[in-house]
Amino acid sequence: MNPQIEVLSDVPALVDRALELVLEKLKSAIAERNIATIALAGGSTPKPLYEKLAQQDLPWEKLHVFWGDERYVPADHPDSNQRMARLAWLNHVPIPAENIHPMQMDAIDPTIAADRHEAEVKKFFNSKPGEFPAFDVILLGIGDDAHTASLFPHTQALQVCDRLITVGNKDGNPRITFTVPLINAARTLIFMVAGSNKHHALTQIFADQADTDTYPARLIQPQGELWWLLDQSTNFSKEN
Ligand code: 6PG
Repeated sequence: MNPQIEVLSDVPALVDRALELVLEKLKSAIAERNIATIALAGGSTPKPLYEKLAQQDLPWEKLHVFWGDERYVPADHPDSNQRMARLAWLNHVPIPAENIHPMQMDAIDPTIAADRHEAEVKKFFNSKPGEFPAFDVILLGIGDDAHTASLFPHTQALQVCDRLITVGNKDGNPRITFTVPLINAARTLIFMVAGSNKHHALTQIFADQADTDTYPARLIQPQGELWWLLDQSTNFSKEN
């Protein structure tokens, strides 16, 4: 499906539109399969969406929450994506603890953490070898360097195509991240992007020609739905 690009007037409008889309996709997944899976983005942009999800009334026992990437820090660390989403949303709704699937960061080595989470995701989806399970919704953001999840420019993680989960590298600091093929296997991908500092990255992501190793978000070409929700301050339009 061609990417759907929507430019919203401001961040609150962007968040409301994201909420509308997320609820629509989760409810239709539950209607069709009696279960819904979502993988969350970290960073600052999705936090107000999580706060709005905390006010929703969903059949929480049918929702399973994962993360698209995580910083290699303990779960109670201020930089933890898990911590952010729990404080903004998950601690405020009656979702069963076993329905929350964070990337555990207590391994001595990030590759062990990646292996463990890969095993957990494969078990959850009962995936066969070489199969990439389809999340119903994956939320993503981009950095001003056009990284997404923890797939950073010129890093080895960009080349990993035979795994679900791998080790990312942000300036020498490890991260755990979904791989490109796992992200591209999703039924619906939703990018939330706000701020003028993201303009250049967006122009390169949507340019006819540009290097995917330099602008990793260009690698995100899913079979399913792809939504780009941008706020006006990105100063990006489809005509760009
Ligand atoms: C992370 C994210 C990362 C994020 C972008 C945008 O763990 O940092 O998953 O990919 O989406 O860095 O971050 P902002 O929303 O803060 O601009």
